[in-house]
Amino acid sequence: MTTQKAHCLILPYPAQGHINPMLQFSKRLQSKGVKITIAATKSFLKTMQELSTSVSVEAISDGYDDGGREQAGTFVAYITRFKEVGSDTLSQLIGKLTNCGCPVSCIVYDPFLPWAVEVGNNFGVATAAFFTQSCAVDNIYYHVHKGVLKLPPTDVDKEISIPGLLTIEASDVPSFVSNPESSRILEMLVNQFSNLENTDWVLINSFYELEKEVIDWMAKIYPIKTIGPTIPSMYLDKRLPDDKEYGLSVFKPMTNACLNWLNHQPVSSVVYVSFGSLAKLEAEQMEELAWGLSNSNKNFLWVVRSTEESKLPNNFLEELASEKGLVVSWCPQLQVLEHKSIGCFLTHCGWNSTLEAISLGVPMIAMPHWSDQPTNAKLVEDVWEMGIRPKQDEKGLVRREVIEECIKIVMEEKKGKKIRENAKKWKELARKAVDEGGSSDRNIEEFVSKLVTIAS
Ligand code: UDX
Repeated sequence: MTTQKAHCLILPYPAQGHINPMLQFSKRLQSKGVKITIAATKSFLKTMQELSTSVSVEAISDGYDDGGREQAGTFVAYITRFKEVGSDTLSQLIGKLTNCGCPVSCIVYDPFLPWAVEVGNNFGVATAAFFTQSCAVDNIYYHVHKGVLKLPPTDVDKEISIPGLLTIEASDVPSFVSNPESSRILEMLVNQFSNLENTDWVLINSFYELEKEVIDWMAKIYPIKTIGPTIPSMYLDKRLPDDKEYGLSVFKPMTNACLNWLNHQPVSSVVYVSFGSLAKLEAEQMEELAWGLSNSNKNFLWVVRSTEESKLPNNFLEELASEKGLVVSWCPQLQVLEHKSIGCFLTHCGWNSTLEAISLGVPMIAMPHWSDQPTNAKLVEDVWEMGIRPKQDEKGLVRREVIEECIKIVMEEKKGKKIRENAKKWKELARKAVDEGGSSDRNIEEFVSKLVTIAS
């Protein structure tokens, strides 16, 4: 199907974990003939290492052009001003595109920015919310929004039953729900649902086979469509041109160093360790992790962002890491996960990392830090059964011997056989979902054909 007329204006929340899945989704739409314009904030564009993308990018303002979220101080201050200034500058952009002969057919917006629906309505333009997190996590926030889920902090051992989800413990819900100090952030997350009844589509970065029950349940309330995993096609169905660069990044990957080192390791022998772009581990946890990796006797590739490096134990880089491991400040994660030498992924379970491990069939050791990660980790272990969660001690730390044991289970022991087999199974299901006729591909096709109808 091709059309020149359908035009999507993509409005991501300006953070790497949000913009990249929307960028990959945009590439899928573009391959089906839709024109794409990404509206990115000036402050975010300034922080990018490079802007190597085939889609067109236009700047809008969040009201903090010099420093974005950091300049705002608090998240709430940021979101509040972004609404005021963003609404105006997005409207100006839509006007400019119309005058240039490229009228917008639909705004695909991150529901962190629900005011996009009002902008769309003002222009008579359709809107689609794009949820970057799992449907399970969205469902939990939905139940907070409805007042069904209330969690006093004392109830951390309580079992909770949420429609569409398996019974979970209070400690498995997103940290913003369980931690009373996050109430303002939670308010904003719950606000994602505020304009949904006025939006035309609700797109979710997941795939049907992965979250069937919860998707079926949510679909009774909202017109949801799964369109993921939003991993470059070259790692899944291979129908789009090769696109090794995953997207936009604040960090510069040490690609050659990583790939050269991995090329010298035996098949399925390496533990890959990363906690994503935001997590800050306690120094004591970093030390336990360092010793756990070292004692496991496995080779490891560990991403330690430069701001975290001072937390590594003394002499770790010079002595232990130089023998068995490689520590880098950032890596090309998809190329790493795809590499035949990788045996398991010790991850914080950010949704992008989780989907990437699923899509590339890498078993996980799930060490969540905050946000949606505890819920993702629970699903990894108990629902998809493609990883394990190391037990924390009473201080909330995962000790070195626990890490060592988990690595052994996932990579070599009989106990981990099912995990390794399931990893292969999910990889295949992820590929099928986006391949021609798969569940996500059908949803994208349907979305595109409706866009074409709107545009014509
Ligand atoms: C944040 C939240 O923390 C996460 O919980 C939420 O689900 C999304 O937003 P982040 O912590 O950065 O994201 O984690 P994640 O979602 O896993 O995204 C990290 C991205 O950075 C992944 O796409 C990963 O491939 C990439 N990455 C990570 C690299 O390219 N190189 C690295 O060295 C590490």
